[in-house]
Amino acid sequence: MKKSDVVHVLFRSGLDKMPPRETGEAFAPTNIALCKYWGKRDAELNLPMTSSLSISLDQKGATTKLSLLHDKPHDVITLNGKEVALDKPFAKRITAYLDLFRPQKNWHLQVDTTLTIPVSAGLASSASGFASLALALNDLFDWNCSKRNLSILARLGSGSATRSLWHGFVEWNAGVQPDGMDSYGEPLTVEWPEFCIGILMVSDREKKVSSREAMQRTMDSSMLYGNWPKKVATDLVILKQSLKVRNFSLLGGVAESNALAMHATMLSSWPPICYFLPETVQAMHKVWEVRGKGLELYFTQDAGPNLKLMFLEKDIGKVKVHFPLMEVIKPFVLSS
Ligand code: DP6
Repeated sequence: MKKSDVVHVLFRSGLDKMPPRETGEAFAPTNIALCKYWGKRDAELNLPMTSSLSISLDQKGATTKLSLLHDKPHDVITLNGKEVALDKPFAKRITAYLDLFRPQKNWHLQVDTTLTIPVSAGLASSASGFASLALALNDLFDWNCSKRNLSILARLGSGSATRSLWHGFVEWNAGVQPDGMDSYGEPLTVEWPEFCIGILMVSDREKKVSSREAMQRTMDSSMLYGNWPKKVATDLVILKQSLKVRNFSLLGGVAESNALAMHATMLSSWPPICYFLPETVQAMHKVWEVRGKGLELYFTQDAGPNLKLMFLEKDIGKVKVHFPLMEVIKPFVLSS
């Protein structure tokens, strides 16, 4: 099944309608997975091998503005105010995504994306990018799509975007259907105002291996990958239980162990994939050291060298003593 088939299932015949307005705009937060999405059962539709669970990062994310172009034979893509050449991977992914929705062949858009997070530094910029693009298209075309269907549409751009349609904790059900109509995000009804994330930037350089490529290589070559779905199944149950009873140590421990297990599958791939920089490992040791002394501090890491620390509001001051440069985000104290 192709992406365009899914879009046709969702819209039936409504895709040739011209938008009723000239512009569309939307923001979507980025999200950090506490139980990771790693590996696909369908690479075309970004259907995951397993379910996953994330926390959205408030105002950290992407705003996408779409404007109709009447006099250009191609799309114009900008990122943080700078035009991106159409042969660059970032622009290619966006124009290929727009191809799914063009009412006429010669119909083009200007897509202006502004990020409040570094691009490709393992802070899930594609998650907020594609979620905000799907929302902005919904605004431009006046589709009135449900969040569930927008989550499916966002997934066609990037898997982790499935979870970026909501604030707070979000679960992405893997689903079993070949067309992926049962693979979408769902917000959990858990508010945890004391829950904090600390972004620890180790490097904002663009990564050499994309998460897309890394995931595929892991599935193809890691002898540990066979155990990954079992690990996820157990971790998801415990994470949801820890959220229900607000058991922070349980949540932090499982999230950290889940991230390390994901990286272990990468390290055991061939050629190996290692997103750790020396500073990443140094920071991990620091977390373990201070946790050994009683501070409830945990980390998670995605496809990049930066760490996201997890701690409760009462400990902000103590964590800052050890990590003075981290940026603190309170996902449940919305800043707008
Ligand atoms: C490590 O969503 O970037 O952040 O679906 O190929 O676009 P594609 O991959 P992507 O992978 C994210 C991987 C991760 C874990 C996660 O967010 O769950």
